[in-house]
Parts: sequence; structure tokens; C-alpha cells
Amino acid sequence: MDFSVFRSGIWGLSALLVCSLQQFLLYANASHTVFAHLQSASASAPANVTNQHRTGFHFQPHKHWINDPNGPMYYKGVYHLFYQYNPNAAVWGTNIVWAHSVSADLIHWRHLPLPAIYPSKPFDLFGTWSGSATILPGNRPVILYTGVVDATGTQVQNYAVPANLSDPDLRDWIKPDDNPLIAGDESVDRTAFRDPTTAWRVNGGQWRIAVGGRWGQQGIAFLYKSRDFRRWVKVGHHLHEVEGTGNWECPDFFPVAEDNEKGLDVSAAGPRVKHVLKMSLDEKRYDYYMMGRYDSARDRYVPDSDMARPELRLRYDYGNFYASKSFFDPEKNRRVLWGWANESDATSDDISKGWAGIQAIPRTIVMDPNGKQLLLWPVEEVETLRGKEVTVKNHKLNKGDQLEIKGITSAQADMEVIFSFDSLEKAEVFDPIWIRYDAQKLCGEKDSTVEGGLGPFGLITLASKNLKEYTPIFLRVFRDPQNNDSTNKYRVLMCSDASRSSLKDGKDRSNLKDGKDAYRPSFGGFVNIEFNKDTVENHISLRTLIDNSVVESFAERGKTCITSRVYPTLAQHENAKLLLFNNGSEPIDIKSFKAWPMSNARLGDR
Ligand code: FRU
Repeated sequence: MDFSVFRSGIWGLSALLVCSLQQFLLYANASHTVFAHLQSASASAPANVTNQHRTGFHFQPHKHWINDPNGPMYYKGVYHLFYQYNPNAAVWGTNIVWAHSVSADLIHWRHLPLPAIYPSKPFDLFGTWSGSATILPGNRPVILYTGVVDATGTQVQNYAVPANLSDPDLRDWIKPDDNPLIAGDESVDRTAFRDPTTAWRVNGGQWRIAVGGRWGQQGIAFLYKSRDFRRWVKVGHHLHEVEGTGNWECPDFFPVAEDNEKGLDVSAAGPRVKHVLKMSLDEKRYDYYMMGRYDSARDRYVPDSDMARPELRLRYDYGNFYASKSFFDPEKNRRVLWGWANESDATSDDISKGWAGIQAIPRTIVMDPNGKQLLLWPVEEVETLRGKEVTVKNHKLNKGDQLEIKGITSAQADMEVIFSFDSLEKAEVFDPIWIRYDAQKLCGEKDSTVEGGLGPFGLITLASKNLKEYTPIFLRVFRDPQNNDSTNKYRVLMCSDASRSSLKDGKDRSNLKDGKDAYRPSFGGFVNIEFNKDTVENHISLRTLIDNSVVESFAERGKTCITSRVYPTLAQHENAKLLLFNNGSEPIDIKSFKAWPMSNARLGDR
């Protein structure tokens, strides 16, 4: 994408104005460090964007910084993805725009040349931040987004409409002058008041949206209502709030069917429907969700009783995945989730490579048949990139065994494996002290080399010769006699360990004063599996997508997902090896293993 075009014409003039105003901007929030000197057009990225570590089939622009996915939607046969984009540099900036790409299949994309939305009007001169798309009756899309209006970071909610509804690409957007639609009143902290959701209709009538924010340390999804989509009024209560969770960014609120796998449009309601509320916790930088009942007559959301404290409960992904947003795809009757997988390197590395950030592979969202959580799974279209299948069947791994998978370039691959075992006898006892840990801490202590009973076993991805670099994704089963849930006395830990993924150290090597540290821990989450003690054989499934600098893993059809960003220096391209391993005393049977090399997605311009 050639963003030099930004510097000409009306956009260029307003960009210049914005850039000079931004010289004075120094407001900070937990989310973003402002690198003022990198925001002007003259401080553009290096001439050469480094290709090393760029992904082959994940969504990314040709260069510069991206963060949140914005306003995903399906319109007239075209999937639309907007995203936060800094047209000038590989760091976040207050000059952030809504870049826009379109696709027929969610995999191959055309990057449209101009941003759809950019700072240019009094109601967004200091920032065009995240938001969502709603399809109004008559198939008329409208975007709601956050505008930043002054140097102190005051945020308002604006709308934009397509200039030409007969263009399926929706290239041009108009920001009408009756914006902003919503300016926060005194009950709102206006510097943390942003990221409007897709609007839903209550009983076929009035519109509702939620807006993220906080009051002190209370994280809040503010609720607004409207009859005509123009005049919005704050509802007397919040959609939801939780004390002690800090600012909520990018809320998402949508229905899921309880008894089938079809996705639901945003306003669907009924007895067999639950509602998901997702919030991106600014302080933790992870996406948490809860499920519950939305009583549209009373406009009240009541989370399931065990989900009242989201910070202790469910996450979409236990790794590098943030500020996600879902949309309903009417073409395939599914709900699809986009999420931002940021770099895990130091800022100085981002700057020198000239790009930062990718979007994770879009995932379908359905409810787990157990009714207690969601299942996230890569959209089926990603399978069209699969090449020649490599398989392993019924191979036993005793303690200390490794099996190298040959015949595949595994730096860019998709794989599915089912591990099975005859007995749960050897599962290590779960120490009650670990209840107070989160899974990530346990993954750090019990890494893939620490021998166990039932596990650790799993995949070793992006491995160099002699394992100087490697990223293992592995499972370890514990027996937990204390677990009050009498049907399940086992806890399954899943880890994705990036700490040995690169010979570069994981510490801050940044020369910039404000440079952030590299952060490559062993991410972890528990997988809620109920083993059947009456059958001889139990199993755990794992799917992993590897794409040069990203490893996305899904245990048990997407009950627990972990995304890691990694930067091997040796284990690249043909030199990346893939192995299966077991470091537990219980033998593990590779019941089935299938892997496919993945070809590149087309990411072109138009
Ligand atoms: C989340 C976020 C949003 C905001 C946007 C700005 O990463 O902080 O809350 O709208 O990024 O780029």
C-alpha cells in the first residue's frame, strides 16, 4: 500500500495540521506510548521493510504499525476489515487511521489505497480510534467510532456512512457534520470512554450500543439507547461493570445459540440464546469474556453465576491476542472473531524491521456443548491454503522420546494431532498452592523439559538443529483431589513457550528512551476436559497454525487457545523443524497426526 498519497490533496493538508497539533500531545494511557518524533510523514519507516519474520498467510499490511481490528462486516459479497493503522511508522501514533481491506474469503485480501476514516474534523482531529459496523435495515452499513477531540484525550463517539452504497468495496466514507453522536456526561471519565460496539435492537425496536470505559478502577460497559440512530441517550444503568478491573477497551456484546453451531445476528434473542460480553482489559492486555442472559425487556444483563469476576475466568486466548471484535457472517451463518496479535519484540526491533502487528487468523465462535464456555476455531477457508498432507498414525512416545516430522516445511504449516493414553494413574498431584497462580506462572515453572507423569507431551515447533531455538506447545495432566467439582478430578495445563524461541534475548535492547521491553513468556491456560475413567483410552486434541513469527494453538476444538509471537534466527524457512515429544512417564500414543504446508495468502493492493 502506498501511503505517500496521503501527503497530497485535502487529506494531506489535514494530516499536516493534525501532525503539528500532535507535537504538543503527551497524554499517556496504559495502552499506548506516544513516540511524537515518529509521527510526522518525514519520519517514515525505513526504505526497506525486513521480510524476515513476516507472515505468509496472516493478515498484515505491507509496512508500518497496526493494532485493533475495526468494523468487520460482510456487505454485498465482500468481507470488510478495517484496522487501526499508523501510516507513518511502525509504532502507535495519535495520527492513527482506519485502514481498509476487502476480501471474498477472509484469507486473500486487497488493501484499499486510502484510509476509510482519518483525523480531519473537530470531532476527531486528535485521533480516529476503534469502533464497529452495524448494518441498518435496507442493507445500509454505518460505522460508529471513537474520535479524540483535544490534546487532553477527550473521547466522543462518532458515525460515518458510505458515500456510495452501490460500491461493494465501500471505499469512501463520509463523516457527517452532526457528529459527535455521543459526548460523555459528568458520570463518565471522558479520557477512558471509547470503542462503541455494533448496535443491537431490542424487541425489533430501539437501538442499543455499549461503550467501554471506567470509573476509577471499576471497568464499565456503558449502555446507550436510540430510536433513530442519531439521538443517543445514556441508559440509567450500565450493561455491566466489575470493580477492580480498570479500563475496559473494545467491548463486544453478542448472542450465541445454546443448542446448535450456527452463529446469530447481533439482535437475535430467545430462550435458547445466551449473550457473551467481552472486554479487553487495558491493564492486563488480555481479552476476557463472560456468558449470561440478556433480558431485553428490562435491558439487564445477568452473567452466569460463576462468571461475575471476569478477570479470574475465561479468556479468548491466553497469549498474544487483544482488542478483538466479532461480526455475524450472513453468508455462512456464523459468528467470526478477529483479534490483534501484537509483536513480542522490543520497540526498537519493530522500528528497524519497519512493521509491527498482524491480525490472528479469523475464528468462528460457537458455544461449547457443555454450556460453560465458547469454542474458537480457525475459519474453514484457511484450509484452502493446505498443501500435501503428511501423516503419522499410532506411534508410541515413551518418556524422553522425540519424533521428527519429515517431508514438510513446517515454518508455515497447519497441523492437527490427537494424543491418547491408557491410564490417568501417573498424573501428578495438583498442589493447592497453584490455585492462586495463574496457568502462565505454572507453565513458567514446569516447562517442557521438566519431567512429569502424564505429560508434558506435545509439539516442538520452529525448532533449530540441536534445539538451540524452539517453541514447544504442550500439555500436562494433573490429578486434583481437592477439586470440588466431583465429576472432574483432573486439570489439564496447556503451555506455549516462547522463552526459548529465539537466540535473541527477550530483554529490552531498545535504544529508545521509551522503548518497551520484549515480552516472550511461556503463556498458559487450563483446558476444561472431563476424562472418562471407565474407558481405557483418553485423548486430547491439539491444532496448531505456524506462520514464521506466529504460532496459534487450539486445544480440544478451541476450548483453550494460545497465540505466541516468536522470532527464530536459525529455525527459519527450510531450517525449521517440527517434532512430537513426551517427557512424562506415561507413554503417549500419537493416535493421529496430520500436517500440511501452507501456501501464502494473497495480500495485494487496489
Ligand atoms: C485498544 C485501543 C482502543 C483504542 C485504540 C486506539 O488497543 O487502545 O481502546 O480505541 O486502541 O488505537
